[in-house]
Amino acid sequence: MSELAEAWAALQAAALRGRRIESLFADEPDRLAKLSLDAAGLHLDFSKQSWSREGFGATLDLARAAGVEAARDRLFAGDPVNASENRAALHMALRAPKGADFRAAGIPVSAEVEATRDAVAAFANAVRDGLRLSATGQRFNAVVHIGIGGSDLGPRLVWEALKPLATHRELRFAANVDPGEIAQALAGLNPMRTLVVVVSKTFTTQETLTNAETARAWLRAAMGTAGDAHLCAVSAAPDLARAFGVPADQVFGFRDWVGGRYSLWSAVSLSTVIGLGPQVFDAMLAGAAAMDAHFRSAPLERNAPVLLALAHVFNRNGLGRPIRAVVPYAQRLRLLPAFLQQLEMESNGKRVGACGGPLAQATAAAVFGDAGTNGQHAFFQLLHQGTDVIPVDILAVREATDGDPAAQAKLLANAVAQAEALMVGRPEAEVRAELAGRGLDPAAIDALAPQRTFPGDRPTSFLCLERLDAMSFGALVALYEHKTFVEGVLWGINSFDQWGVELGKTLAGRVLAEWGAGARGPHDPSTADLMRRLGPG
Ligand code: F6P
Repeated sequence: MSELAEAWAALQAAALRGRRIESLFADEPDRLAKLSLDAAGLHLDFSKQSWSREGFGATLDLARAAGVEAARDRLFAGDPVNASENRAALHMALRAPKGADFRAAGIPVSAEVEATRDAVAAFANAVRDGLRLSATGQRFNAVVHIGIGGSDLGPRLVWEALKPLATHRELRFAANVDPGEIAQALAGLNPMRTLVVVVSKTFTTQETLTNAETARAWLRAAMGTAGDAHLCAVSAAPDLARAFGVPADQVFGFRDWVGGRYSLWSAVSLSTVIGLGPQVFDAMLAGAAAMDAHFRSAPLERNAPVLLALAHVFNRNGLGRPIRAVVPYAQRLRLLPAFLQQLEMESNGKRVGACGGPLAQATAAAVFGDAGTNGQHAFFQLLHQGTDVIPVDILAVREATDGDPAAQAKLLANAVAQAEALMVGRPEAEVRAELAGRGLDPAAIDALAPQRTFPGDRPTSFLCLERLDAMSFGALVALYEHKTFVEGVLWGINSFDQWGVELGKTLAGRVLAEWGAGARGPHDPSTADLMRRLGPG
């Protein structure tokens, strides 16, 4: 057996010998100290995970056997870690401080990154300060961001999380090809004062181009082709953006070594830089860079992204848990689960390894979630008493942005209490005693007690932010990016490609073409029936 196979076997054996999480605190007096840490302004507590000292040690052995440190070094060195596309994955270069020297496959990139960052900041400031005016000579008062997937989820999350720090300006998003979304995004805006930012790495994405055409038509209806001056684009294919009609000095680029779901640090966030101002955006970059520095240098056992990944892998592969939940107790982070769905599931939702062979282990769990406390009134029933154990990441932000401090205390009390409740549960004996005390008869107690019992022993990772400022937010997103990378290394996955999204796109194109031609190709009976029902006329 290889060292790696042995490490997996040891991890699984340790997980099988698992004990109740609560009892591990009694056995391991240093448990909290060993399993909690501070990194880049965040505090992370992994002590409510199911791993014992032995289980935790087994995950670290796995990380060593899988070569996490060497893989991390290759990532930062700009090696083509995205082997199927022969590309580096250098999103860290986008947030590095001035003067860094990142290289993608040996080619220096930092100077170009800084030049683009400066160009984005200059453009954003010009729009914000009214130096860049509309085609009708007015100040822009709204921005519509059009993009999908990585060209939407990141900027949308940034805006939702940080907009209390914005000084002015209306920013709206349209991603879906559902015509209702772009209609909503444009509704009520004045085209003569609206900037439209089209974001697409490839500039070929059906949804984005369709929405961009709608927005361009909306601008032209008001101003003729002069309305094209209100178009901006961010793309790794700038020629296509210019061919679409975007003025050349309003096309901002990024390179193919920036994966879509890792692109929010680039010009892809142009619309949020306009909304937030370059200073806030730079603080976000600095927070992410601080997490990069931590990830790059901290030993495995004190490394936040590594521990977050190992906790996931212990649950996923040691205990066979295929779903996980993420619950930020901060309304401003309510889009984090949606962002993580792409980050984790598009990166690591794969069944073959980087060399094409089948993987020995199950890979990414399905991830879902919503802001706390809202989620408590929706899916927490299942978390507490469902038949499956679903590990949860709980996030809490100590300081409220604004509003009633008493409400903030209630929010935080819920965060803390839910993690405790998931772990300790409520034993049946205690429920029975309570029901008996309330005078229920034995038959009623027999029926009710099991329903009111909480099994507990349900693991959480708890992440604390002091406040939700741009720096902590940047560190938080970078934390999850590196977690995803580490998991990919453990599973033997290329986390930076996404071949699994292609087939559906191709078949949708075929369906549309057949509808357009009025001719039907060979399909199974169900698909043929749906095409008949949903097709034109
Ligand atoms: O969903 C597939 C995908 O390729 C994502 O990886 C990407 O973020 C998204 O589509 C949008 O792609 P683009 O930025 O090229 O429009």
